[in-house]
Amino acid sequence: MSTSASKVLAELRSDHRNLTVLIDMLDAEADRLKALEDPNYELLRDIMLYMTGYPDVVHHRKEDWVYAKMVGLRPAMQRDLTRIERDHAEIAKLGTKLLNDIEAIESGTVMRRFDVVEDARAYVNRQRDHMRWEDEKLFPLIDSLKAELDLSEASSNVPKTPDPVFGPKVDSGFRNLLDAIRKDQQSG
Ligand SMILES: [Fe+2]
Ligand SMILES: [Fe+2]
Repeated sequence: MSTSASKVLAELRSDHRNLTVLIDMLDAEADRLKALEDPNYELLRDIMLYMTGYPDVVHHRKEDWVYAKMVGLRPAMQRDLTRIERDHAEIAKLGTKLLNDIEAIESGTVMRRFDVVEDARAYVNRQRDHMRWEDEKLFPLIDSLKAELDLSEASSNVPKTPDPVFGPKVDSGFRNLLDAIRKDQQSG
């Protein structure tokens, strides 16, 4: 068994657990926005700064690299897994759009609430659908190939940026986000 493949798969699954927490928080803020309550824009911005700064840059690049290694080993898999790179590009685009909405609101630009709710929903739905597909299809395939899949060079093929929220050292700019996550988890 390749410990490198097991380690990479464990990292990807751990990222998904963390991302799910943030996507659920984002969804709850979108509900507040839709109900004409005041959402926490600072929290929304921090979530989207994280999403566009870590998962888009590290988690998705890691998956793209693993996907390329899998296809190298089993070329026939390409047909079933081809959506991965397209999904990642779409998620990055939707995420940047939502971050731009939030930053525009914070700088005083008048925006239609409905448009922001729509953009938040589009992002949440796309992320959930994508992660579900990976959990159910991609990750079990990685698992089934781990004896042959050599992922020992992950560190030289994937950006080394550490996770600024869930990693060993919390980036000072994300302290409020981490507090909000803890509070959210305590309230169940
Ligand atoms: Fe992905
Ligand atoms: Fe993923």
